[in-house]
Amino acid sequence: MSGTTTFTMIKPDAVKANNIGPILKMINEAGFRIKAMKYTQLTKEKAGGFYAVHAERPFYGELVDFMSSGPIVAAILEKENAVEDFRKLIGATNPAEAAEGTIRKAYATSIGENAVHGSDSDENAEIEGSYFFGMTERF
Ligand code: CMP
Repeated sequence: MSGTTTFTMIKPDAVKANNIGPILKMINEAGFRIKAMKYTQLTKEKAGGFYAVHAERPFYGELVDFMSSGPIVAAILEKENAVEDFRKLIGATNPAEAAEGTIRKAYATSIGENAVHGSDSDENAEIEGSYFFGMTERF
């Protein structure tokens, strides 16, 4: 059993396709509560910093360009076993491999434009959440 907090972004492809509402509905219906939420756009610098762990990957430039290409929604979510349960809800990184009923199966179009991000550990959930929200913005 992991901690009770995770972090998500609804990515520019899903915002552009007008899917913020349906994605938040899936998140709520899966039992997550929204503790903080922000509609914003990343600069290239901020997107690059967020994904710094992927800096050596061949897709890093594409990832940074895409993530700064339009508005996103960043949110801190709460639920028991949050990280693991949220990764189950979003599905595989590649939507072609995402299970039926997952957010990426429903809304992702490619491995790069895959609708949502979800933290992969409790430690990263804390780091990623604090990238967008100060302690006084979490409820
Ligand atoms: P995310 O869960 O936000 O974390 C890292 C992101 O890198 C991932 O989702 C994908 O959107 C992106 N990514 C991973 N592999 C590739 C790839 N082969 N080509 C382009 N983008 C990728």
